[in-house]
Amino acid sequence: MQDSQEISGKFRELCELCKSPAEVIKTKKNLLVVSHVDADGLTAAAIVCTALERLGLDFLPKFFRQLDEAAINEVADHGADLVIFTDLGSGMIQQICDHRLSAVVADHHKPVACEARPIAHINPHLAGADGATQLSGSGTSFLLARALASTPGSNDDLAALAVVGAVGDLQDMAHGQLVGINRHILEIGSNAGALSFSRDIKFFGKQTRPVYKMLEYSQDPYLPGLSGNEDACIAFLKDIGIRLGGEKWRRWIDLSQAEKAGFVTAILRKGLRSGISNVKLERLIGEVYVLLGEQEGTELRDASEYSTLLNATARYGHAGVGLSVCMGDRDKALDEARMLLGQHRQNLVNGLKLVRENGIITLKSIQYFDAGDAILDTIVGIVAGMSFQMADRSRPILAFARTAEGELKVSARGTQDLVRSGLDLADALSRCAHAVGGVGGGHNVAAGATIPPQAKQEFLELMDQSVGRQLFKE
Ligand code: C5P
Ligand code: ZN
Repeated sequence: MQDSQEISGKFRELCELCKSPAEVIKTKKNLLVVSHVDADGLTAAAIVCTALERLGLDFLPKFFRQLDEAAINEVADHGADLVIFTDLGSGMIQQICDHRLSAVVADHHKPVACEARPIAHINPHLAGADGATQLSGSGTSFLLARALASTPGSNDDLAALAVVGAVGDLQDMAHGQLVGINRHILEIGSNAGALSFSRDIKFFGKQTRPVYKMLEYSQDPYLPGLSGNEDACIAFLKDIGIRLGGEKWRRWIDLSQAEKAGFVTAILRKGLRSGISNVKLERLIGEVYVLLGEQEGTELRDASEYSTLLNATARYGHAGVGLSVCMGDRDKALDEARMLLGQHRQNLVNGLKLVRENGIITLKSIQYFDAGDAILDTIVGIVAGMSFQMADRSRPILAFARTAEGELKVSARGTQDLVRSGLDLADALSRCAHAVGGVGGGHNVAAGATIPPQAKQEFLELMDQSVGRQLFKE
């Protein structure tokens, strides 16, 4: 673990790096903001677009599932004065420069080594910080937005969106709280009055779900006898003296401190009795992030619920809806996002059911499932991550899904313990995908690729060997 002085040094280095591209951006008329279709990509784009809007600059946002050759061609065809890539681009610097694009890249994916230099390449890895846990795409974009502020600190409120992006990329999972440069962002947001953070229960839905539903849907850790069992959850709450509510169901935020403490104690006791390990139970409590500018009892108030709402838009081809919400629309766009959220939840439930029914195939060093057409390629990674509740945690999990274009999408997810043992999925996926004629990349703990469908078997063998070498140093 780096000490705080070292982290502050990297934070200052990255802030310094943002100054000169910010001056260039301010002189441009026709800007294109290119970003990624997930919660981190949406918040990254929203942060930069808001900063540009506040400066009165003209911009156009554009979203891609991945930045491949076709996407770069499309970007080049726009003929923008300058392109700002957020939450993607670090793997394609050479190609971006080959197209003679005037570009600023603010990303946190593992950079691919190359000779070419855009106007600026801002990435935590280049400052010696880990892009999987210490700074997200939205965090990197936030540092750029701070440099774009007309008066110092006038964009600091955007730290709230940067935290939503980091949580969306699960950067708080490794240590039960945000770490590294992310903590500087937390502090800035908290000083600006946009954010608060505290230790609390990590269940999903504290703002919006009735407590018994929040408990029923608990998945990590899976609580035998409670998870998935509505009647048991209601009986459990009654048993420990928590009123469910009269006309309105009570949510976690409606409970008193004493009730919350009683609930946590009872859950821990029940967990231990069911044989759940202390390590797993520790994951029940962690730091949670509240957006103070948002209305209480809405998805937008809690960073984790907000990021899921955004995934429900962008991952289904409605990035514009999520972007509008991030940029302040609380009417039509928010209604539409909530409608999409309902469908997204159902898709995740169906996806997990499919994995449970079809099973996960175990190889020597990896495990995988193939969803075929049954799970959308844009959410198969989320389902893969959630599948760890029923999968073996000693191997990374790979998931396959067919894309609309007939290619094969691969999503891979690991655990922090595996990363500590040497796992680097970004490296393995990028090499193995390349070897079979595909493209891949990402982070050590979560990565993705697209490969030709006929290469699946060969790709699996290569991945099994590659991960085996990483974990067992064969
Ligand atoms: O698509 P999925 O959720 O599995 O992606 C996991 C991570 O890998 C994301 O951060 C994504 O940006 C990255 N990725 C990548 N190159 C790809 C596919 C995914 O860098 N071809
Ligand atoms: Zn990201």
